[in-house]
Amino acid sequence: MKCEVKNGIYWVGAIDWNMRDFHGYDTPKGTSYNAYLIVDEKIALVDTVKGGFSEEMFMGIREHADPAKVDYVIVNHLEKDHSGSLEDVMAAAKGAQIYCSTRAKAGLVDKYGEKWPINMVKTGDTLKLGKKTLRFIEVPMIHWPDSMFTYAEGDKVLLSNDAFGQHLATSQRFEDEVRANVLYDARAYYANILMPLSPIIAEALKKLPGLNIAPEIIAPSHGLIWRKDPGRIVTAYAAWSSFRPKAEAVIAYSSMWGLTDMMARLIAWGIMDEGVDVRLYDIHASTLASIMTDLLEAKAVVVGSSTQNNIMLHSTAEFMAYLRGLRPKNKIAAAFGAYGWAGGAVKEIDDGLKAAGLETMEPLAFKHIMTTLSEDDKAKCVEFGRGIAKKVKGGLQ
Ligand code: FEO
Repeated sequence: MKCEVKNGIYWVGAIDWNMRDFHGYDTPKGTSYNAYLIVDEKIALVDTVKGGFSEEMFMGIREHADPAKVDYVIVNHLEKDHSGSLEDVMAAAKGAQIYCSTRAKAGLVDKYGEKWPINMVKTGDTLKLGKKTLRFIEVPMIHWPDSMFTYAEGDKVLLSNDAFGQHLATSQRFEDEVRANVLYDARAYYANILMPLSPIIAEALKKLPGLNIAPEIIAPSHGLIWRKDPGRIVTAYAAWSSFRPKAEAVIAYSSMWGLTDMMARLIAWGIMDEGVDVRLYDIHASTLASIMTDLLEAKAVVVGSSTQNNIMLHSTAEFMAYLRGLRPKNKIAAAFGAYGWAGGAVKEIDDGLKAAGLETMEPLAFKHIMTTLSEDDKAKCVEFGRGIAKKVKGGLQ
């Protein structure tokens, strides 16, 4: 399968159609591991693919060059989905030299010893291939301390590794070739992998203009390549990394016998009544990744649970742990739920939202043993929703 990104820069990656869990993040659409071959007087391979996918990568390389003739292997990032086939590549290309960041070298030596020639590079360093010149840009913590970008200067192609990617397995290689909303998949990727690194990403984006690069194509290491107006994904990253919110609320909850579910729907009613968009998720019936994808842009997160054994239901607890790890910011939060004898879940959720650094509202809890919500309770739920929506609107001003 031939795919020229631009002027002798080729996609030589692998498609993982069956990847459904990427270190704990649900990936229902699979993914791809994108490696790029740059052919000039010298031949460079930028990144490799996950272990077990080497043959697909070699098939792609052979379309353009003998793998033994690869002169340089650029390791933009150590994580196994990109370096898992490095040993196979170095076995095939016996004379190849590796180029990577200082931290990547430490990781490579730790794993493989000193058996390969490794050149450390820093931001601004270049590697001439002939007519083409590659420039390196360190981007620590996007997504690991070793991460860097490789920029093909004359061709204006940015090989951005994890940044700007999506977990998508497709026949196409370019974003403008598919009908799907790729920006949504890029948001899912950002929300579930990169969100906790947002302050670092925001700083890195501010430095981009000073680096004197003007990419016409952004080719990440997962999913589709941004060829048509690549500025769209950079603009989206600027909004996501600064937690610029929209007038949206996300309700995520678990319910034992339906009362907390009824509360959730009435709270949603109140939020909608005030003209704020809402997404409602029964955690049992949803993936955490899909909830977090909407939560990234929402101003409010509303979390509910019935009480069982004096604590929140385990599915809500799992959601709370996932939320806390991803460290969302600039959001208001509220807890709610129904209980039979002794409560506990709502306080636990409220404490968890505070511990996550979110601005919390007064929670809403009802005690009901074998009964349903009264008309007064229902009105309180709707009013609770209206209060959240008003806070959302006030928080956007
Ligand atoms: Fe796609 Fe951080 O690995």
